[in-house]
Amino acid sequence: MKRTDYCGKITASDIGKKVFLQGWVQRQRDHGGLIFVDLRDREGVVQIVFSPEQNQVTYEQAKELRAGYVLSAWGSVRNRPAGTENPEIKTGAVEVSADGMEVLNPAKTPPFLLDGKVEVDEQVRLRYRYLDLRREKLQSNLLLRHRAAMVTREFLDQQGFVEIETPFLTSSTPEGARDFLVPSRLNPGKFYALPQSPQLFKQILMVAGFDRYFQIVRCFRDEDLRADRQPEFTQIDLELSFVDQEDIYQIVEGLIARVFKQTLGINVPLPFPRLSYREAMERFGSDKPDLRYGLEISDLTRDFPQSKFNRFSEVVSGGGGIKAINFKGASRFSRKDLDDLTVWIGQFGAKGMGWIKAEGGKPVSPILKYLDPAEVDSIFKKMGMAEGDLLVLVADLSPKVALESLGRLRVHLAEKLGLIPPGEFRFLWVNDFPLFEWSEEEKRFMAMHHPFTSPRDEDLDKLESRTGEVRAKAYDIVLNGMEIGGGSIRIHRQETQSRVFKLLGISPEAAQEKFGFLLEALQYGAPPHGGLALGFDRLVMVLSGTDSLREVIAFPKTQKAVCLMTDAPSDVTELQLRELHIRKR
Ligand code: AMO
Repeated sequence: MKRTDYCGKITASDIGKKVFLQGWVQRQRDHGGLIFVDLRDREGVVQIVFSPEQNQVTYEQAKELRAGYVLSAWGSVRNRPAGTENPEIKTGAVEVSADGMEVLNPAKTPPFLLDGKVEVDEQVRLRYRYLDLRREKLQSNLLLRHRAAMVTREFLDQQGFVEIETPFLTSSTPEGARDFLVPSRLNPGKFYALPQSPQLFKQILMVAGFDRYFQIVRCFRDEDLRADRQPEFTQIDLELSFVDQEDIYQIVEGLIARVFKQTLGINVPLPFPRLSYREAMERFGSDKPDLRYGLEISDLTRDFPQSKFNRFSEVVSGGGGIKAINFKGASRFSRKDLDDLTVWIGQFGAKGMGWIKAEGGKPVSPILKYLDPAEVDSIFKKMGMAEGDLLVLVADLSPKVALESLGRLRVHLAEKLGLIPPGEFRFLWVNDFPLFEWSEEEKRFMAMHHPFTSPRDEDLDKLESRTGEVRAKAYDIVLNGMEIGGGSIRIHRQETQSRVFKLLGISPEAAQEKFGFLLEALQYGAPPHGGLALGFDRLVMVLSGTDSLREVIAFPKTQKAVCLMTDAPSDVTELQLRELHIRKR
């Protein structure tokens, strides 16, 4: 006998049908006279009923069933008796009256219940990942992931993209994280680096004439981990020749719209809005603004001309900025809450946080005594302050610090105040990034994206004279406050590339040593080209409505980059090390 149906797919239209099902016992309940078994497979659960009248032998066997057993069961589909339907599950209106069964494999008692009703410690879930993955939520997340990947492949194929694999054993790539290294047995003392992205290879493929490349590809970065970061993660990686930014926006928007339509049935409005990096920073204090709520930042630098408040006057005379947000209706935060928030915001560099409430028809704040009442009046007007509002101000000699810390507070309080509407997807492009970022630590310019990113044509002649102002042909795609992708138009001329390397302090020798093959390739007829990579795990995380990448990756790593199921990374033998010409320090 062969399986006729998936358990989770049985519906009222199957009533009267003989079915043969295979799956895992989720639960067995012996009601004395009747035994109920919830049988689960990847599509869901169905109730199977064993009764002595139907088959005495089978009924006796069913008494021995335990959670986790692998089972074949057969019988006929019927309505559940009136009043016993379970609207919580898809198959809740029906049940299967068993004619027979066979235990294909007994099982140890699982360390946790798989019905998804109790919160299970994540460490335990990751150790027994095969059981965890058997649960409904993770099954549906991974099926969704599969669907999204299939839609992506289909869409890109239709658009003329060619999927080409690139090496994992390679040399260092320029995404700016730390490399994972792999020692070479055949080349003593030498190491491969696992790719942080296929960046250089995809550019080479453009020189090679493939015109449109894509790959759903694993990338490796040895960074500190967070909920939205894994040491190995997957990109939908694209590169195209003879295009400008507009072409890339259009293709990526089309891809995202298709994926949302075909996975969630949602129509994403196109085109996505665009913000320059500068505007994003000034209005939202972030280069990945969450547009699902307001709370925009205002500039009040010039609104305290009479202020006796040292903090403000110092900042203003020193060329800094005073930035503020009106948190509507948030005056209920207590003084203690606001003190805590002041400490909290300090971790982002803010040296303090001023606040003024509109309460009882007047401003309330510990800093009022330093401020001119007319000034307070006028900023209240400017900021649209109404009864119950909370104005938060951050003044800093570095306007960027003021903006960024308020930007963090904006996100933090939007969550606390419950301002995030569920089920909304707000995309945008952030573009016109600066090409370079000044590093105070290293006292030099760094590439904001990567060193192959093209400057904007109109900024080319400022490259050496006003380096910090040069804008890049770079763009990020942001969804609900998360960077889900980024890319750029690349430099395709050797001469511009050399100027950029020089500004980055990369000597011709160093450039040659690190990226020599790319520089050489650029001299053999590199077409104008550009591309983008989407963080596939992050995209699926949003699609599945979860807030951790671990919920959408089959075998993820912990915060400490450990796989609790396989125990990787693990010790190796002395012999293995010796073969690799390695000695432990
Ligand atoms: P970038 O470094 O911005 O660009 O990476 C592209 C996207 O990959 C996702 N991402 C991650 N997801 C999970 N865990 C991580 N550790 C992680 N790091 C990055 C993000 C990010 O937007 N080669 C360039 C692309 C290009 O220029 O074409 C690149 O890799 O969603």
